[in-house]
Amino acid sequence: MKRVTEIAPGLHYVGANDRTKHRFEGLWPLPNGVSYNAYLIEDDKIALVDTIDAAFTERLLGSIREVIGDRSVDYLIINHMEPDHSASIDAVRRQWPGITIVGNSKTLQMVEGFYGIGAGTLAVGDGDTLSLGAREISFHLIPMVHWPETMVTYCAQEGLLFSGDAFGTFGALDGGVTDVQLDTARDTSPFWDEMVRYYSNIVAKYGGPVQRAIEKLAPLLPLRMVCPTHGPVWTAHSFPRVLDLYDRMSRYEALEKGVVIAYGSMYGNTEQTAERLARELAARGVRRIAMHNLTSSHASFVLRDIFKYNALVIGSPTYNMGLFPEVRSLIDDLELRCIPSRVFACFGGFTWAGAAVKRLSEFAGSHGWELVAPPVEVKQGYSPDKTASCASMAEAIVAAMGQPL
Ligand code: FEO
Repeated sequence: MKRVTEIAPGLHYVGANDRTKHRFEGLWPLPNGVSYNAYLIEDDKIALVDTIDAAFTERLLGSIREVIGDRSVDYLIINHMEPDHSASIDAVRRQWPGITIVGNSKTLQMVEGFYGIGAGTLAVGDGDTLSLGAREISFHLIPMVHWPETMVTYCAQEGLLFSGDAFGTFGALDGGVTDVQLDTARDTSPFWDEMVRYYSNIVAKYGGPVQRAIEKLAPLLPLRMVCPTHGPVWTAHSFPRVLDLYDRMSRYEALEKGVVIAYGSMYGNTEQTAERLARELAARGVRRIAMHNLTSSHASFVLRDIFKYNALVIGSPTYNMGLFPEVRSLIDDLELRCIPSRVFACFGGFTWAGAAVKRLSEFAGSHGWELVAPPVEVKQGYSPDKTASCASMAEAIVAAMGQPL
């Protein structure tokens, strides 16, 4: 029995799961692992679509050999050059020296820059086609989703789209490969939250290019199968939901009503303000409240929740006449991602000279976010006389969030 999964006639999944890497891109934790997806199309010609991370090169080569035996791979189609997908290019070429590497001009420049390969390539442009025999595939550039060379590969006869990182998600593929073979049917399936975290961490700076890509791909709909480089292969069963999520996130539209309270705290005084505010919000009917002490919550989960929920409150002690370092880092992350609007409020503390609330208010102003309530500021120890101002802030947040909550 073959070990490699044939996900459609002549289309094989030759990717691999990574359950040991601690940080994706050296940055983002992977509690559920990640998959590096590559696909092999078997026709008169054999085409490999993308490769996988260097740690799994031998597994990729073994999977391909299992499918094609003594035949050779004719084409390596490269949709994206980030090394989690491109690192096995040279090994694939050494295994099948007659292979032609297919990519757009930006891709081929990177193939040379990363791997020193300048020959045996075929440059393709937007809309160009390539015949594999019974199948014809076409190439469509979607620059800055999320690198400049990113493109997708489409097979019209079969309604297949190889989408690169677009429509990807964190999470290893436990057993199945397609959405219907995996735990994706439940709204609480970890894949959905991990998709938001993947998007908000990796792609979110490029909302405009993602919108342009979605518009460009619209004439290709409906698709029978979408094959991204990470996460499940999406069939018509789930792809509309995936497309809707990517569309809304790339318009920076919050996915649900809810409040993120993200704060730093050195000795618990700022944290007590956060707790009081959360209680006041809950007392007014808010049920989705994501509390993130930034010393212990990794930024990737905070960003995920900021993309999910429509209200954000940031709190910080004054530290070295500025923001607590973890709060400053979150502000940097938000500035990079250019989220145009959220219901926003802030709070902070100081011992002898206040700066945190001033800095947070300046951030809101420079970002075009309106403060829905005056900041709550605590001098030295937290005291219960802040309850009334936390209650007013909660009232204003709930009013700005709109009903129903
Ligand atoms: Fe999965 Fe942008 O690489």
